[in-house]
Amino acid sequence: MEQLFSGKVALVTGAGSGIGEATALLYAACGAKVIVSDVNEKGGNNTVEAIRKAGGDAQFERCDVSKSTECEQLVKATLKHYGRLDMSCNNAGIGGEQNLLADMSVEGFNKVIAVNLSSVFYCMKYEIPAMLQNDGGAIVNMASILGQVGFAYSAGYVAAKHGVVGLTQNAGIEYSAKGIRVNAVGPGFIDTPLLSQTDAKTKEQLVSRHPIGRLGTAEEVAELVIWLSSDRASFVTAPTFLWMAATWRHEYCAGKHLPAARNYLTCHQYMQKPVVVMTGFFAAYADHTYQNMPVPPN
Ligand SMILES: NC(=O)c1ccc[n+]([C@@H]2O[C@H](COP(=O)([O-])OP(=O)(O)OC[C@H]3O[C@@H](n4cnc5c(N)ncnc54)[C@H](O)[C@@H]3O)[C@@H](O)[C@H]2O)c1
Repeated sequence: MEQLFSGKVALVTGAGSGIGEATALLYAACGAKVIVSDVNEKGGNNTVEAIRKAGGDAQFERCDVSKSTECEQLVKATLKHYGRLDMSCNNAGIGGEQNLLADMSVEGFNKVIAVNLSSVFYCMKYEIPAMLQNDGGAIVNMASILGQVGFAYSAGYVAAKHGVVGLTQNAGIEYSAKGIRVNAVGPGFIDTPLLSQTDAKTKEQLVSRHPIGRLGTAEEVAELVIWLSSDRASFVTAPTFLWMAATWRHEYCAGKHLPAARNYLTCHQYMQKPVVVMTGFFAAYADHTYQNMPVPPN
């Protein structure tokens, strides 16, 4: 039986751990050849090894996504190694400095913007021309529920993820008609090494905020990325923003959980939003917006 991604090439950043690793493994299991990229060589090589062990085809390319030249080089290396690029998951990210805004260091703010936001611009800047060389492609950017709402002590992270949603919308508007679908995924809290700094009590409180009664897994996010990357999502493109177990309950809890949950549960609201897929609306909206914009150069 032909696999979902037979003959296709996928690129995943931050694929040495967590969501990126799970996504790379699932792309490969669905028949794609995968460029596994990370700044962490050990993690990236482990992912490649796991893919090969399972009979898949993968190659590691080191890339610090906060550097535009390295992102350009990453796409070049992809084309050199596999000859094409069909799908990408721009996933690499960090939690960044946690502080009240006025106490946040300029370096800390700039770092999280560079790794979590500028990187998505750099990657798409070089991925898009590579995809246009063939029949287009599909890009999935890793946002977060924090791409939609604020979250105390995380101004840089929140600003970056809101930016990822904005970049995704613009790219979708500009390139959907040219055959590249661009989407963002906004997971709730996912149990990966990113949450390793979180103490048990805070984790428990986080869990209690998810109506499903637990945190998500990297594999569950990967499932959504794979679907968005596939032709099964052929009418799904930005400005689509898919929320995963994004739980917002209109419950203002400023101070309520201080200080135990200082980092995660203060000064913000949770509301319940299931995954929203409004393909017709979004595609129509994108088209409408496109027509009302100055004609982009061909
Ligand atoms: N875990 C969550 O609760 C959660 C929720 C929503 C969104 N996200 C997002 O999902 C993405 C993946 O996070 P995760 O939870 O799998 O975390 P993770 O820490 O397990 O994985 C992140 C990977 O990114 C890599 N990375 C960090 N800086 C990099 C850089 N400059 N260049 C290249 N690679 C770099 C790390 O080495 C690591 O392998 C991130 O963008 C994160 O913001 C995570």
